[in-house]
Amino acid sequence: MSVLLTGATGFLGCRILRELLARGEEVTVLGRGAPDDVRARVEAAVTWLDAPPLGADALAGVRYVSGDLTQPGLGLAPGDRARVTQDLSAVWHCAAMIALEGDPAALHHANVIGTRGLLELADEAPEARVLFASTAYVAGRRRTGHIRESDLRDQDGFQTLYEESKYTAERLLHAWARERDRDVTVFRPSLLVTDRPVPEGLPEQPTDVAVRLIGNFMSGRMAEQDAMRALLSGPRGADARQPEILQYRVEGDPEATLNLLQADYAAHAMVLAASRDEPAPGVRTLHVTHPESVKMSTVTTALQTRFPGLMIRFTPELSHPTTLERLLAKHGTRLLTFSAHRRTYDRSNLLADIGGLPDPDPVDLDYLVRAFGGAEAPLPV
Ligand SMILES: NC(=O)c1ccc[n+]([C@@H]2O[C@H](COP(=O)([O-])OP(=O)(O)OC[C@H]3O[C@@H](n4cnc5c(N)ncnc54)[C@H](OP(=O)(O)O)[C@@H]3O)[C@@H](O)[C@H]2O)c1
Repeated sequence: MSVLLTGATGFLGCRILRELLARGEEVTVLGRGAPDDVRARVEAAVTWLDAPPLGADALAGVRYVSGDLTQPGLGLAPGDRARVTQDLSAVWHCAAMIALEGDPAALHHANVIGTRGLLELADEAPEARVLFASTAYVAGRRRTGHIRESDLRDQDGFQTLYEESKYTAERLLHAWARERDRDVTVFRPSLLVTDRPVPEGLPEQPTDVAVRLIGNFMSGRMAEQDAMRALLSGPRGADARQPEILQYRVEGDPEATLNLLQADYAAHAMVLAASRDEPAPGVRTLHVTHPESVKMSTVTTALQTRFPGLMIRFTPELSHPTTLERLLAKHGTRLLTFSAHRRTYDRSNLLADIGGLPDPDPVDLDYLVRAFGGAEAPLPV
C-alpha cells in the first residue's frame, strides 16, 4: 500500500514527507513541473531537515508524478492516475495556495476546486483515507471564545479569502465523507514557524515574506530615499538625519494573541495522529495548535529586536495609512493585522489521538527573534 502526498515542495509538506518516510511509508509525490524537477526540490528540502532520522534509501524510494490542482483531472496523465490510485492507503493533501489575499479565482481554483479534484481521485481508491491540511484560521473573524475542533461555521465571516477558501474546502470534505461513507481527517494547524534559518531556495515560512519586506524597507533598498522620508513621521530635519527609523502602525491590541506552532512539531503530531486514530467513516478534525498563544506585543518586540529602528505601534483604528502601512498589509504582514484575537483552540481530539503527546517548546520572545532572522542577521538585500 502507498500514500499520495501533495504539497511536498512546501514548508509543511516537506516535513510531512520526512515524517512519512521515517515511518517506512511508500510515498508518491504529486507536484507541479517535471518529475525530476519536483524530485530535486523535494530532496533538497527534506535533506535539509535534520529530523526525524531517515534510512539511507528512504528518499530514493519516493515516486514522483506531475500534477496541478488547477488542471482538470489534476493534470495527471492517464497512466499516472491509474498507477497512483492502485493500492492507495491514504491521500495527504497539503498543497494549497496560501496567499492570504490572493486573486479570488486563483485561490478558489487551487484550494476548493483542487480539493474536489483530489476527492475525485480518492473516489478511484476506495481504501484510501483522506488527510487534509486545513488551517486554524477557518475560525475566521471570531475573535474570542474557545474554538472547538468540531466548529465549522461562517456566520462570523472571514478575514481573508484564503481562510474562506479553506473553510469551503472543509465543507466539501464533510459532504464527500457523508455521501461516500468515507474516512477524512482534517488537521488545522495554526501559523507555523521555525527558528532555523531556511537557506535560499528551500521552502520558507509564511512570516519570511513580512520579515523580508520590512528588511528591504529598513535598508532603504526597496523605496526611493525621498519616498522613505515621506513615510517617516516626525520633523523633517530629524527624518533626514535618521532614515533608519521606520514607524509602522497596526490596527489592533497589544494584549491580543497569535497562535504560533513549530512546524516540525506540527508535522510530527499530524503524522503520528494519523497513524493512531481508528479509521472510521466521517470527518475527524484536529487542532494542531500551541497550547499557549503569544501576545502580539511579544511578536512586535521580536520584530523590533530584529530590526533596530523599527517602531511598531498598535492603534485602535488605522486612519490615513501610509504607503508602507498599506504595502505591508497587502504583502504578508497580515499576521500583525490579526492582532485583535483573544480566542483559544481546543486540542482534545489531538491529545486523545496521541496519548502522552508532550507540549511543544515555548514560542517566546527569544524564539521569535531567531525565527525572524536573529538580532544580528544582516538586513536582506
Ligand atoms: N505554513 C503555515 O503556517 C500553515 C498554517 C496552517 C495551515 N497550513 C496549510 O498547510 C498546507 C501547506 O502549507 P505550506 O506552508 O507548506 O505552504 P507552501 O510552503 O506555500 O507550499 C504550498 C505547496 O502547495 C503546492 N501547490 C500550490 N499550488 C499548487 C497547484 N496548483 N498544484 C499543485 N501543487 C500546488 C506548492 O507547490 P509549488 O512548490 O509548485 O508551488 C507547494 O508544494 C496548506 O494547505 C496550508 O493551507 C499552513
